[in-house]
Amino acid sequence: MDRLRSVGETHFFRQPAQFDHLLHAVEQRLESHRYPVRIWSAGCANGAEIYSTVLTLSQRCSRRPIDRGRFAFTGSDFNADAIEQARRGRFTSWHMRGCAERMRDQYFQHLADGDWQLDRDILEKVDFFCHDLLDGSEIETQDFIFCRNVLIYLDPASMAQVVDRLYRWLAPDGVLYLGYAEAVLAGDHPGLELIDSSLAAYRRRTFELTTLPVPVLLPPIPLEPLRINPMRPQLAGRPEALAFLEEATQFANNNQPRQASQSLKKSLYLDPSLAVSHYQLGLLELGEQKVDQARRHWRNVITLARRQTPSEHVPGWENCTWEQLLQWTSKQLRRLGESDV
Ligand SMILES: C[S@@+](CC[C@H](N)C(=O)[O-])C[C@H]1O[C@@H](n2cnc3c(N)ncnc32)[C@H](O)[C@@H]1O
Repeated sequence: MDRLRSVGETHFFRQPAQFDHLLHAVEQRLESHRYPVRIWSAGCANGAEIYSTVLTLSQRCSRRPIDRGRFAFTGSDFNADAIEQARRGRFTSWHMRGCAERMRDQYFQHLADGDWQLDRDILEKVDFFCHDLLDGSEIETQDFIFCRNVLIYLDPASMAQVVDRLYRWLAPDGVLYLGYAEAVLAGDHPGLELIDSSLAAYRRRTFELTTLPVPVLLPPIPLEPLRINPMRPQLAGRPEALAFLEEATQFANNNQPRQASQSLKKSLYLDPSLAVSHYQLGLLELGEQKVDQARRHWRNVITLARRQTPSEHVPGWENCTWEQLLQWTSKQLRRLGESDV
């Protein structure tokens, strides 16, 4: 289906409850010294939306200043004219209709023709760029994404694609704000959890990763998917590989994720069929939000486990059967949205 063109209707403090929520969530982040806070308006039209976030925080955040060291505000739109307007920061009275008089008088200059010019101090806090949510280009991870009244203009397939991208661009625990009419659209995404339906806000889910003894930590270099060579002798359980697995467990338990990851890779170099190492690397990758790599490792586990006798014990995890490992791994993959496991 062809993409429908959208209209750039917007105004300051549209859906005001979301700005109150943002303020509260940002205060919490600042309290725990999580800097910088990244806020992105995707489909920003003339910039009223992203400037509303800057004004909210500039006026109401208890931990000022709202400077570039601690905040990164970004606006993007696929319409170059909209981006040009946003950079200029000049608004009609119609765009200003949601802005309280006190705030308007503090941050805007009233021009002779009746328009309102936003102060340079505020303009300079935001970076704008042209970006089509439907093209494949990557975006830096964001803590808060506003993508409001954009999805409604997309056909269902594009909408699902954009929701999945927004999910991937969110930091762990990050929040996505949609238009009120769009709240139901993201409901099916397994990685997004509705915070409050009246708010049309979703939090990126953090996955439960503690099913098995090794904690979730840092990851590494991408691994190739497993290619099992049928001519290669069955090595699972080979002592050197198991020694690296044991070493990885110790590193992980000492909170040394990089080393744990290296040891797991060494174990797989010696024995690519060591399912436990794939399973654990999947956890480490997911802990780093490398969802595709986690999937790849867990699919390898599934491939390996299906070749084994279900009741037999898994080399490296003597208290776990292949059947159990298959169940755990399928559960992890289903959480990542895989339905065929
Ligand atoms: C109705 S406006 C909403 C503006 C603002 N988000 C708000 O809610 O007030 C929709 C904006 O989304 C932009 N847009 C539509 N499809 C887009 C896409 N695929 N990529 C980027 N921007 C898009 C349009 O150019 C337009 O400026």
